[in-house]
Amino acid sequence: MILVTGGAGYIGSHICAELARVGRDFVILDNLSNSSMDAVDRLQQLVGRAVPFHAGDVRDTALLDRIFTEHAVSSVIHLAGLKSVAESVANPIDYFDNNVAGTVRLLAAMRRADCKTLVFSSSATVYGAAATMPVTEDAPCMAVSPYGRTKLMVEEMLSDLHASDPAWRIARLRYFNPAGAHESGLIGESPRGTPNNLMPYLAQVASGERSALTVFGGDYPTPDGTGVRDYIHVVDLAEGHVAALDFLADNPQDVVLNLGTGSGTSVLEMIAAFAKASARSVPFEIAARRPGDVATCFADVGRARRILGWTATRDLDQMCRDAWRWQLVRKG
Ligand code: NAD
Ligand code: WQD
Repeated sequence: MILVTGGAGYIGSHICAELARVGRDFVILDNLSNSSMDAVDRLQQLVGRAVPFHAGDVRDTALLDRIFTEHAVSSVIHLAGLKSVAESVANPIDYFDNNVAGTVRLLAAMRRADCKTLVFSSSATVYGAAATMPVTEDAPCMAVSPYGRTKLMVEEMLSDLHASDPAWRIARLRYFNPAGAHESGLIGESPRGTPNNLMPYLAQVASGERSALTVFGGDYPTPDGTGVRDYIHVVDLAEGHVAALDFLADNPQDVVLNLGTGSGTSVLEMIAAFAKASARSVPFEIAARRPGDVATCFADVGRARRILGWTATRDLDQMCRDAWRWQLVRKG
């Protein structure tokens, strides 16, 4: 049985859909702080059966112990946490508590249950402004926000843990820019309030919910002056998690892996791709750079390909088509 913390969220729900597709049993723990029961209902509709779900917090030790015992959990995919860079700057304590203390509680519960296989949601944000692109897992880490530092802190804890007890099997997956939605149109990203990220904002502009996209910076040292990122389809990302679990089953290691596509897309290229997929116009204006943004970030995906036998297969057009389909469903 696989415990998926944060399984009602954007990435977690797609991982659960993929686990169901390949016939793995899973149980979700989520406090619904950034998701809803609607997402769980839709996931159940997608997988065609009831999904075991616990509404609760990853910091709740008694609840964790109950879940590990009740479900005989043998591995954990840990996504539960807060993820807004701006919010983490304004309120770092919440981020230390949810992301770092939450992980400590989880690890302690795993040890009590003798469950020592963990896949952790890390982020390319740990690289900060890396000197060379594509960025490899061996590049120095220097997160620039409290959010990014929580990811780094957890990664360092996991490294220490494995050094203390090599029976732990750990995959630290550094996601680049997850985007898109499940092609069924049943699950996708549902940001609360104004989206921070490019893709959900674009979808809301195309649908007329928002009037125009603000492009943060037109003077970066990139081919068209706008920021370049490695957008990875969320279903490819989900498949990467199953590959990581399979790898850990055969290899008692602590591995760090980039999950991206290996190629970069600029904001203007993304706007054009989204306009084409949605057949809508996407008004935009170029404004000042957003503090903390880097010019370019894309992954070296060689290690993931080599050791997991996994690569992303879905392209930008599919990402935009799937995000658009979900936007239409979500808006109703
Ligand atoms: P999300 O907010 O949609 O999902 C996170 C889920 O965790 C939510 O359902 C939320 O309710 C739940 N949660 C938060 N704190 C919790 C707690 N203390 N106890 C129980 N549940 C809790 O975000 P997402 O985009 O699906 O991201 C999932 C993970 O991947 C996060 O750890 C995030 O930091 C990481 N990540 C995301 C991105 C991205 O761009 N989306 C990139 C890199 C890494
Ligand atoms: C992408 C590009 C923006 C919004 C963030 C987190 C990172 C990770 C993924 C969790 C950039 C530009 C955006 C807008 C814009 N999350 N942009 N107008 O910043 O690469 O990464 O999400 O781990 O930690 O920092 O993603 O989607 O916000 O931005 O021009 O309204 O789009 O400047 O070039 P980012 P993003």
